[in-house]
Amino acid sequence: MIEGVLERLDKSRSVLKDAAGKMTAMGQALGGMLASDEVVKGGISGYVFEHFEIASYNALIVAAEAVGDIEGAKVFQKIKAQEEQMA
Ligand SMILES: [Fe+2]
Repeated sequence: MIEGVLERLDKSRSVLKDAAGKMTAMGQALGGMLASDEVVKGGISGYVFEHFEIASYNALIVAAEAVGDIEGAKVFQKIKAQEEQMA
């Protein structure tokens, strides 16, 4: 859905940002494996990450609305609702 917004605006996503995001997620997973209470820490990490995503989509919705991209704002609101369910 995000790729659709980027393609419509003729923008490409940053490969570096994608890689950094994947590395962060992997680091969190590996860090959790070393802890004796990994299930609890995994639950906390998941809760924090979902709320980080909700905040990110809030920022994207405001940005899209600010530039008049109502279609993009609707897409981000749809994804944000999914993130709220995950949280
Ligand atoms: Fe999520």
